[in-house]
Amino acid sequence: MSGRSLFLHAPHRRMPHAVLRRMLDHVDPDTPPDGERGPVAQLERRLADLLGKEAALFFPSGTMAQQTVLRVHAERRGRWSFAAHPQCHLDVWEERGYAVVHGLRMHAAGDRHRLMTGADLAAIGAPLAAVVWELPQRDIGGLLPEWDDLTAQVAAVRERGAAAHLDGARIWEAQTYYKRPLDEIAAPFDSVYVSLYKGLQGVRGAVLAADAETLAEAAVWRQRLGGGIRDAWPLALAALVGLDELPDRMPAFRDHAIAIARAINADGAALALPDPPQTPIFHVHLPASQADVDRAGAEMVAERGMYVFGRTRSSPDPTRCGFEVSVGDNAMDFTPDEVVALIHELLERAARP
Ligand SMILES: Cc1ncc(COP(=O)(O)O)c(C=O)c1O
Repeated sequence: MSGRSLFLHAPHRRMPHAVLRRMLDHVDPDTPPDGERGPVAQLERRLADLLGKEAALFFPSGTMAQQTVLRVHAERRGRWSFAAHPQCHLDVWEERGYAVVHGLRMHAAGDRHRLMTGADLAAIGAPLAAVVWELPQRDIGGLLPEWDDLTAQVAAVRERGAAAHLDGARIWEAQTYYKRPLDEIAAPFDSVYVSLYKGLQGVRGAVLAADAETLAEAAVWRQRLGGGIRDAWPLALAALVGLDELPDRMPAFRDHAIAIARAINADGAALALPDPPQTPIFHVHLPASQADVDRAGAEMVAERGMYVFGRTRSSPDPTRCGFEVSVGDNAMDFTPDEVVALIHELLERAARP
């Protein structure tokens, strides 16, 4: 497939041949598909260790992992509510599986355009089974609370008897801001989910880390939900490759995100927020309607295989829209000036009738 992509998950990076080549170079010919020496168990042990938790459990998706652990926290506490940011993945992108499948209620904490605060959480009167912190908060441009604020929020919540759960889908991205070892970032939380295909650039999959008892209960639900799949080794292996290669490069991804955002804001045709980005993620806000930008982006893909974004985001102002930039291998291939030029092209095309 020809073309280039600023978009982290573009098809180029997912071409089976390229992915398999990386995996082949990595795997020992004697590696068994399952069992203690298999890639899944290796990955679980490595992540439990890195995150400083007693155990870790593979899931086919973060969606399944998080709904499961929230249910386990709820059953253990006999409380059926949890709190999370209004734009958390659980509420926005999962067809409310937490409610429909698990009978849980979500209390949205705080405003949808800013980070959740301790006061937002304290204002929730219902007894909570758990609170979810998504670090970074992806749908508001990858914002992160300051470390001391975060740990104070977690401590207050746990004092009320609720579990603290970390949606660490992008924990390696968050680490570039907190500049702490992963186990220190995970330590305040009872349970942590990490994605195998975001910062690690794997194929799919998730790992849930927690104490052994929580994970034993989670494993039962994983089976009930059809997630106890054998031969998940290709997903685990792709993540092991990423684990060896990518975390050390994250600070460079973040620096490049900062450089691109700075160039966009200096140019002024679009606006990059947060300014500066805290992680390798930021949003680009455009003075053009979502439909026009979608059309312009589709033209660039059709004409020369250029992916500027994965999808656009609407804005309350219909004359504006935005998209996310998540800097990984793909975006490293673009200079900040090239990204500015792409944005100009997008806007010019969007303005055509
Ligand atoms: C913050 C966050 N949490 C959870 C998920 C769910 O992960 P999965 O796609 O593996 O179900 C995603 C996926 O994009 C995510 O961005």
